[in-house]
Amino acid sequence: MIRLASVTKSYGHKRAVDGLTLDIRAGEIFGFIGPNGAGKTTTIKMIVGLLQPDAGVVTVDGVDVVREPITAKRSMAYVPDTPDIYERLSGMQFINFVADAYAVPEDLRRERITALAGTFDLAAALSDPIESYSHGMRQKVVLISALVHAPRVWVLDEPLVGLDPEAAFELKKMMREHAEAGLTVFFSTHILEVAEKLCDRVGIIAQGKLVACGTLDELRTSADSTLETTFLDLVDR
Ligand SMILES: Nc1ncnc2c1ncn2[C@@H]1O[C@H](COP(=O)(O)OP(=O)(O)OP(=O)(O)O)[C@@H](O)[C@H]1O
Ligand SMILES: [Mg+2]
Repeated sequence: MIRLASVTKSYGHKRAVDGLTLDIRAGEIFGFIGPNGAGKTTTIKMIVGLLQPDAGVVTVDGVDVVREPITAKRSMAYVPDTPDIYERLSGMQFINFVADAYAVPEDLRRERITALAGTFDLAAALSDPIESYSHGMRQKVVLISALVHAPRVWVLDEPLVGLDPEAAFELKKMMREHAEAGLTVFFSTHILEVAEKLCDRVGIIAQGKLVACGTLDELRTSADSTLETTFLDLVDR
């Protein structure tokens, strides 16, 4: 569902992503982990079409993201690493603005917003301006707006940051259900316990290169290792 073939991206002289090849399947939750500055956000921005690779190809659901960006974006949800959104709009106005961009029909839109706002306990605040929202509330608005067009491929950059325990629980449940429906979730996180419990496969990136990729069993460096010890072993090396 998401395919990166020898993808490279530099900022000036700094090579942020270096020959990255990844194949994310339908029906899986894929966790993308790595130290600060490893290249996770840069990779995610190339998947969603915000940055163009210097070399290599990214396809989503079979569509080349650089050649057919609009078609590719139709099938994706993108949650960026920080919820920087239009503060003067209300939560509902922002979600409707995004729903307009994706041409979501009125009845479906209403149904989805009601369901998602209920799940994330945000219904009461949706008519207030976003400038009055806490960080977590902004994160919830971003999540709802990302999911309002019912995308097949979810691309989430540290989606759990700032969410309260209940919302985090609900989001993890939704991620699992999405994968079980045969669709795809790709997300980055620093919370290795979450990755360990939630992911079907994990990719570890360091200094722009993939250092390991597989199921937790495949990645284990010893019989009693956790994802944390595996991560520290692999990244230290
Ligand atoms: N806009 C930019 N201009 C210059 N360098 C950048 C820019 N964005 C990222 N970088 C550099 O690219 C590298 C990868 O950054 P990236 O944000 O992809 O890392 P990350 O894995 O998402 O890190 P974190 O875990 O801290 O979110 C880092 O060395 C960073 O300094
Ligand atoms: Mg990042």
